[in-house]
Amino acid sequence: MSVPSSYSRTQIMLHWGIAILILVQMVSKFAIGPAWDAIEKGQEITGITPILHVIPGISVLLLVIVRLILRFRHGVPKAVEGGSPLQEKAAKAAHIALYVLLLLIPASGLTAWFGGVSQAADAHGLFFKALLALILLHALAAIYHQHVLKDGLMSRMMKSG
Ligand code: HEM
Ligand code: HEM
Repeated sequence: MSVPSSYSRTQIMLHWGIAILILVQMVSKFAIGPAWDAIEKGQEITGITPILHVIPGISVLLLVIVRLILRFRHGVPKAVEGGSPLQEKAAKAAHIALYVLLLLIPASGLTAWFGGVSQAADAHGLFFKALLALILLHALAAIYHQHVLKDGLMSRMMKSG
């Protein structure tokens, strides 16, 4: 795999676009949650349309797949200098876990919604909690790099080149 000097514009746009969609999902859960409860009770769906959760959720899945393809084709810049091998490994593991959850969350949501599998809905909620915890650590790490280590890591996800 090639080692570029920076993330491409598309990779950066996908990173922030997906982050915004995750926020959308946190709000639109209030549309799908009551609908799911109604389905489980055999009642009719009323209230806000669950499509507000389904469409952005499917978009996340597709955009993550595009992102992974680009990652394999374009590559990603190597770790910033000054970090220990352990820090590098931790960052790599966190990024892999983020990608895995970004695939598992929509996949379990789709299985629950279209397959009517309630265990998948439970897993969906649990995966999301794990994602939230990882995102928090990820954002704190980025802020630490930016403001304490001042190694320019943040600017890699802000502009290309
Ligand atoms: C939903 C929220 C987020 C998700 C799912 C996410 C996911 C990811 C993933 C998977 C990578 C690895 C990219 C790769 O090498 O292929 C990454 C990199 C990065 N993210 Fe996030 N991120 C999120 C939010 C944030 C936030 C809030 C910040 C800043 C405060 C941030 C800053 C960065 C930076 C600076 C990198 C580059 C790290 C490096 O080059 O080593 N991310 N993000
Ligand atoms: C990355 C994309 C997605 C995120 C971040 C996300 C996030 C969430 C969150 C936070 C909840 C509330 C969980 C709870 O209260 O325990 C939820 C519920 C739900 N989501 Fe998603 N979701 C995504 C994609 C999808 C997709 C693509 C579908 C189906 C087409 C879907 C179907 C559902 C269903 C059926 C529920 C109700 C489950 C329940 O209340 O137990 N989600 N989602």
